[in-house]
Amino acid sequence: MRVSPQEAINFLLNGAVVALPTETVYGLAACIHSRSAIEKIYSLKKRPLNNPLIVHLADPADLRDFIVETPPNLKELMDRFFPGPLSIIVSIDTDKIPSIARSGLSTAAFRVPTHPIVRSIIRTTGPLVMPSANLSGKPSATDPEAVECDFGKDFPVVDGGETQEGLESTVLAFKEGRWWIARLGAITPAEFAETLGYVPLNWTTSRGMTSPISPGQLFKHYSPNALLKLVEQPMELEGIVVGFSDRRYPRASSVYYLGSLKNPNGVAANLYRILRKLDQDQVQEAVIDMDMPYTGLWSTIRDRLEKAADS
Ligand code: TXA
Ligand code: MG
Repeated sequence: MRVSPQEAINFLLNGAVVALPTETVYGLAACIHSRSAIEKIYSLKKRPLNNPLIVHLADPADLRDFIVETPPNLKELMDRFFPGPLSIIVSIDTDKIPSIARSGLSTAAFRVPTHPIVRSIIRTTGPLVMPSANLSGKPSATDPEAVECDFGKDFPVVDGGETQEGLESTVLAFKEGRWWIARLGAITPAEFAETLGYVPLNWTTSRGMTSPISPGQLFKHYSPNALLKLVEQPMELEGIVVGFSDRRYPRASSVYYLGSLKNPNGVAANLYRILRKLDQDQVQEAVIDMDMPYTGLWSTIRDRLEKAADS
């Protein structure tokens, strides 16, 4: 059910959950002090309670109300990337955020979205917790139709069209004297070099998957129902192929195009919609052309496809 931003505000202030567009993916929003609405988010998504939510602020300065310890370069990161698709994990005053929203941790992830609709809503409602608006384990929602597919036609969603980035925010955390990528996302590691003086490493690739900084990395993610097979040799691809418009797949029975290898942003924007399209078309099995670069945004695209295929 499409609702206006004003209706969404009324829902939120009355303790309900609504879906909102952001520049990354759609989010399932609840007011930060509405414990029952936050519980509802976990039950609607079937999300494990030990996977904390990101707090969304209208303005960078609002972080001051929560934070108890300022890691080095926090100000520089905020000046450069807020508002934008970056979430930063910091130690917080635990009285300020209900335990359920942060899974009992003494830290929380914060982000200031650029999307004008969600930002103006937060200006009225105050901070919102907002995980991606998809059933846990499924690809994130990048348009209102995807939200309705997961939560039903009657579920309230503010229609902001297709999201710009198509991938979730990058999550950064300060640990052992430096910043780490806790989750790859729409901002590439190299983009932090100028601000930090180094390229932050991906914690899970450096330390292994058993002790991620972000608990979310432990769970099944981004997966359509179709069995996905990742293949590095595109010429050999047979059957239903997910690939690139720059290539020919002579042995494929049909091809779902992610976009062009010359345009990683376009591929990112299409990625979850294509994975969801496989389900709509009741595809049982698809092969993914993984012959793409390892650098820049491609590293996030690879990460999502690897997780989508890992079921
Ligand atoms: O782009 C985005 O970040 C979207 C939009 C809606 O803003 N939101 C989103 O939320 O992707 P979600 O819940 O799907 O992913 C949040 C990630 C999870 O991996 C979670 O484990 C991690 O952030 N996270 C949240 N709070 C954390 C904390 N205190 N410590 C470590 N990781 C945390
Ligand atoms: Mg998510």
